[in-house]
Amino acid sequence: MSPVDLGLPRVPGAAAPASVTLPADRPATGGLVDRYGRVATDLRVSLTDRCNLRCTYCMPADGLPSLAREKVMSRAEIARLVGVATRELGVQQVRFTGGEPLLRKDLVEIVADVAALEHRPEISLTTNAVGLESRARALREAGLDRVNVSLDTLDPDTFATLARRPFLERTLAGIDAAAREFDLVKINAVLVRGVNLDHAAELLAWCLERGFELRFIEQMPLDADHTWDRSAMVTAAEVRGLIGERFALAPDVEPRDGAPAERFEVRSRATGDRLGRVGIIASVTEPFCGDCRRTRLTAEGGVRDCLFAHTESDLLGPLRAGASDAVLADLWRTAMWGKGAGHGMDDPSFTQPDRTMSAIGG
Ligand code: 5AD
Ligand code: SF4
Repeated sequence: MSPVDLGLPRVPGAAAPASVTLPADRPATGGLVDRYGRVATDLRVSLTDRCNLRCTYCMPADGLPSLAREKVMSRAEIARLVGVATRELGVQQVRFTGGEPLLRKDLVEIVADVAALEHRPEISLTTNAVGLESRARALREAGLDRVNVSLDTLDPDTFATLARRPFLERTLAGIDAAAREFDLVKINAVLVRGVNLDHAAELLAWCLERGFELRFIEQMPLDADHTWDRSAMVTAAEVRGLIGERFALAPDVEPRDGAPAERFEVRSRATGDRLGRVGIIASVTEPFCGDCRRTRLTAEGGVRDCLFAHTESDLLGPLRAGASDAVLADLWRTAMWGKGAGHGMDDPSFTQPDRTMSAIGG
């Protein structure tokens, strides 16, 4: 074991220790492997912790204090860290998330920088689409490959209740623009009992008509208000039953290949015609941690090995202190080596992380 001057891991917000001891058994070269043999090739980068919506399952009504500007990774710092990930660590896919990534004025430039990397990853964006209408074309021209939009309902009042902002029209305009520019648009929906559960089949019909792939995501305990209640949560099994009343579902023939969504082929009950696909992400009731290929960077440049991690490993501090690419890669490898077997939601000792989804990046 060797002590180094770069502090990791640490609890978010806490001061970095002057030195820590790195595990001697961690890999010194190669990709982002962990003790369980998983290899992370899929990087999520949160570009900001700010958002223009206040979805109840993510943000508190009054918002959260946002990070000071100087704490957030700059365009150049993002390109540097993504470059380390793709060149040194075998990352192949990069997804920009938030908060709301469209709130970054330099989003198009960030995408262009990453698209210009020598080892160019596949680049995607998760967004609420508010404001996407005017930027979809520039994003595609900059090199963005795919877009996932969060949309939980098509009813304006329900949208305003769930997102605490009356922006359904702006979201739909953003989705239209995405459909014009990108071959495949995916829609993410979180169902909340008593709010939009009854809208699930309607939302699916709407997506199928437009050729969008809808994915229902089980609500996870990442809300700021800590009101998540497993017994009230809408489960994947329930969603399958609900949409199965209106459509015929058959397991998708394509291999799942580590994807979090279990995919189904959707057919008309009346004619048997194939209408498209739907995915269900059962992070809580059917966890896929054993197949996880994710590594995450927070907007502050911290590596999180899991959404539910309680610690982060700072890369931005070392980067700003002059660390070389090799040192940054080593820190990242070390962080991922410590990844736990699973989120442990079923363990009585499970505690919700202090950070909300908006601060981690979906
Ligand atoms: N549980 C599940 N999904 C969530 N999202 C935000 N918060 C939660 C939560 N608590 C989703 C958003 C978005 C994606 C990034 O994560 O709907 O589509
Ligand atoms: Fe914003 Fe996404 Fe959180 Fe909704 S879920 S408040 S759109 S970051």
